[in-house]
Amino acid sequence: MQTVNRDEAILRELNLYPQWVRRSAASVVVEPAVVAPAPTVAEPALGPGAEQPGWPELKQRVKNCNACVLRAGCKQTVFGVGDEQADWLFVGEGPGADEDERGEPFVGQAGQLLDNMLMAIKLKRGKAVYIANVVKCRPPGNRVPEPAEIAQCLPYLQRQIQLIRPKVIVALGKTAATALLGVDATLGSLRGRVHDYQGTPLIITYHPAYLLRTPADKAKAWQDLRMAVATMNGLD
Ligand code: URA
Repeated sequence: MQTVNRDEAILRELNLYPQWVRRSAASVVVEPAVVAPAPTVAEPALGPGAEQPGWPELKQRVKNCNACVLRAGCKQTVFGVGDEQADWLFVGEGPGADEDERGEPFVGQAGQLLDNMLMAIKLKRGKAVYIANVVKCRPPGNRVPEPAEIAQCLPYLQRQIQLIRPKVIVALGKTAATALLGVDATLGSLRGRVHDYQGTPLIITYHPAYLLRTPADKAKAWQDLRMAVATMNGLD
């Protein structure tokens, strides 16, 4: 009973209750993977040919990184959080003020919505879930990171993905989606199908901060999450 109430509360929060209960999982159409061009590894952070660090060294390198201007304007780097062998990886854009303060991704208002989105698909931060960002330092005034900043920082995320080896990646918003796919495209043109990130299915959905501003699109985010679950369930 308690679980039902909790589920209702989550879905109400997502603005999805009660419509979603009438749809069956079978209605989720998972299209064949679209092969995207492999993202190039930017120099110099972890360049090709360089020895690839394990977790402790990678964390240290991020902590010490000064490769772009973002480090000078933030309090601390925000590496990522969760199960380092997670089946699920959620990727955001970059830390905001709360994350910069706490050193953990998605701990502000958008993070609360992300936690509810996770709960809606029976996931929990830290339990088979890893959360990371494209850039590890807060962009001033929460602006979108510049392409050069993304290029400098992306190798850290790429290495995180190699180490985690998630079964499914969910990109939250355009910055994460386009950085991972190495394309320039709108979110609307990318969501709604399963992409391929170096052999790992990649689902693209709206950023929780956008959903807070545009609650009408929560229903579409719910479709994306269902697609992600169907994708995970369809794997061997
Ligand atoms: N937005 C993001 O993209 N990442 C965070 O960690 C917080 C807000």
